[in-house]
Amino acid sequence: MGRSPGLAVLMVGDNPASAAYVRNKERSCDRIGMTSFGKHFPADVTQRELEAVIQELNADDRVDGILVQLPLPDHLDSVGLLLTIAPEKDADGLHPLNLGHLVRSEEGLRSCTPYGVMALLKEYDIPIQGKNAVVVGRSILVGKPIALMLLEENATVTIAHSRTADLAAVTRGADILVAAVGRSEFITADMIKPGAVVIDVGINRVKNPETGKARLVGDIAFEASEKVASYITPVPGGIGPMTVAMLLQNTFNSYKAKLP
Ligand SMILES: NC(=O)c1ccc[n+]([C@@H]2O[C@H](COP(=O)([O-])OP(=O)(O)OC[C@H]3O[C@@H](n4cnc5c(N)ncnc54)[C@H](OP(=O)(O)O)[C@@H]3O)[C@@H](O)[C@H]2O)c1
Repeated sequence: MGRSPGLAVLMVGDNPASAAYVRNKERSCDRIGMTSFGKHFPADVTQRELEAVIQELNADDRVDGILVQLPLPDHLDSVGLLLTIAPEKDADGLHPLNLGHLVRSEEGLRSCTPYGVMALLKEYDIPIQGKNAVVVGRSILVGKPIALMLLEENATVTIAHSRTADLAAVTRGADILVAAVGRSEFITADMIKPGAVVIDVGINRVKNPETGKARLVGDIAFEASEKVASYITPVPGGIGPMTVAMLLQNTFNSYKAKLP
């Protein structure tokens, strides 16, 4: 084909956390020889302008993956933008068509964070079939697709959420526990079955009241939980980097799909 795979990342406004994520994605592209097409827009960019850029990128043969960095300012409709991305270039795997493929167990681009969780389980040879898996969180971005992917691997899956009665009793039944809640150290060691495999998807910024410095903390109280779990992912350094890796994997898969 004579070119390297290309990823276009669209960023709106100057949210510092988003800017850091975008920089990280672009750096990761550089590291593996992927071309990144960064597009940065002012916070008052219109829906129509963004849709026009996405359509150009859809038609650009050098671009294999497109993603819109979330969250977006309130005046923009993120679902509308997602629907504008050509499903075969949907590097984040969040287009309804790709989510539909997941529900139907068909091939398609998978959403990156759940895909990263599954890749990690596979890398460490964690048995999934027949295991009790509990996913805490039911967002379309994380919780639901992870639950579907675990189901696909024949786990017996429970999805817990903010209305779950006696959450601790549910999580204590988990051989594989995935936390995707967005609350720092919300799951404590006493909520974990001894020997469980624990995946912490949460990324929470917690400010030290004395120094004013922020640090990243997961949804699992790591220190005590690592003594109970057989495997546990850290924050930072666990599922975050896996998400970026799977973004690049999706872009590469789209690139490969175009090869004759
Ligand atoms: N590692 C990565 O690359 C990556 C990627 C994406 C997100 N994240 C992180 O993952 C976390 C979750 O993200 P998200 O987008 O899924 O968040 P979200 O859309 O806010 O969803 C949070 C989920 O947690 C549930 N929840 C809230 N309080 C609860 C409680 N007290 N008990 C049980 N469940 C509760 C909510 O239940 P209801 O549905 O009932 O409200 C909801 O389903 C965040 O920390 C986010 O930063 C990390």
